[in-house]
Amino acid sequence: MPEQIVIIGAGQAGVQAVQSLRAEGYTGAITMIGDEAYPPYQRPPLSKAYLLGSFARERLFLKPDAFYREAGCELILNTAVTAIDRAAKKVALNDGRTLAYDKLLLATGTRVRKLSCPGAGLPGIHHLRDIADVDGLQDVFKAGTRIAIVGGGYIGLEVAAVGAKRGLDVTVFETADRLMARAVSKPVSEFFADEHAKAGVKLNLSTSVEAFEGKEKIEGIRAGGKVCPADLVLVGIGVVPNDMLARESGLPFQDGIIVDQNAMTADPSVFAAGDCTRHVGREGVEIRLECVQNAIDQAKHAALAMLGRPKTYSEVPWFWSDQYDLKLQIAGLARPTDQLVLRGDPASRKFAVFHLRDGAVAAVEAVNAAPEYLIGRKMIADGAKVAPETLADISIPMKQIAQG
Ligand code: NAI
Repeated sequence: MPEQIVIIGAGQAGVQAVQSLRAEGYTGAITMIGDEAYPPYQRPPLSKAYLLGSFARERLFLKPDAFYREAGCELILNTAVTAIDRAAKKVALNDGRTLAYDKLLLATGTRVRKLSCPGAGLPGIHHLRDIADVDGLQDVFKAGTRIAIVGGGYIGLEVAAVGAKRGLDVTVFETADRLMARAVSKPVSEFFADEHAKAGVKLNLSTSVEAFEGKEKIEGIRAGGKVCPADLVLVGIGVVPNDMLARESGLPFQDGIIVDQNAMTADPSVFAAGDCTRHVGREGVEIRLECVQNAIDQAKHAALAMLGRPKTYSEVPWFWSDQYDLKLQIAGLARPTDQLVLRGDPASRKFAVFHLRDGAVAAVEAVNAAPEYLIGRKMIADGAKVAPETLADISIPMKQIAQG
């Protein structure tokens, strides 16, 4: 049994590890270090209800302060770890302290990718990852403001939806030829493009940003050979893993800290969980997942493995996004070669796209269709086979389809 566990990163994976360690009977010391001012909080509402103003900051926190007290977890905030000494089993903090560990968990998450084109440093260009980012946006996120959004992924489109709802004049620039191409199939991209257009959002696909224009602050964005005036810019072009501490301490990495199916790195005293990791997923392919599900499940597995009870991680990944009154829920990982089956009519704003691989359900994307998502997710976990024409027939309830 370890006596001193140190967790670097006070986010979803970090707090889950604290909870799981105690639930699994660990009685030693836990220290969690975070470089933000806040205890662990939920990020998904930031680009949705929190930006909209309908979600109080207190509701973002994953646990009340009492949780950390009762769990005997020392929470060190506003503090960064600057180095890991694996030989001495110590971490150095930027306030000069060093902390010893028996087991170490890296739950360091990701940071936003930034553009480096001319003008990228102008005031008025924002990113959205932290509470502080949204708080810094609120004053300028006002009706009538012209906002240019770079990136038509989750962040860009959730901000576009909130912006349209709050009366901003919204224009999106996306380099790919369709929206959310990393995450969804073409029919779902096209459906969301229609919905955004109906809400008045101007979409520019296959368009690269060449420069930001302005003297003292942002005044416009040059893209596709034209200049679009803008009072405000939001860049949401993806994230990069915070794997520097692992790299510098000599641990293997490749766009993420490499871990095995027990969330262990190449060093048996060091574990990693969440967005910062890369592991061989349930389909036998190396992957770095950016989602709440992976943060929670991998942290649970890391806790078990630290206590000497490893259990192979093979959960089905799931994701979601809220845009307008549309709930997009995704389970499984699609491949371009999958057979697509449409269930329901997108015009009804309630439908699902299933991905079949060798006759079995491999992934599902559901729009306002909870049964398709929930039962589809179970079918993926079970490797359930189904005939495409059965899946496409909305007169047959999902429950009945799952029963075979
Ligand atoms: P993303 O990877 O989802 O989307 C980035 C988009 O930007 C892509 O469509 C990409 O083609 C585009 N892009 C890349 N470079 C570009 C450029 N130079 N100009 C224009 N477009 C460009 O990443 P996003 O939206 O920034 O989200 C960041 C993170 O936040 C991800 O980990 C995401 O999973 C997470 N997130 C998850 C949400 C959810 O699950 N609902 C909601 C919001 C964020």
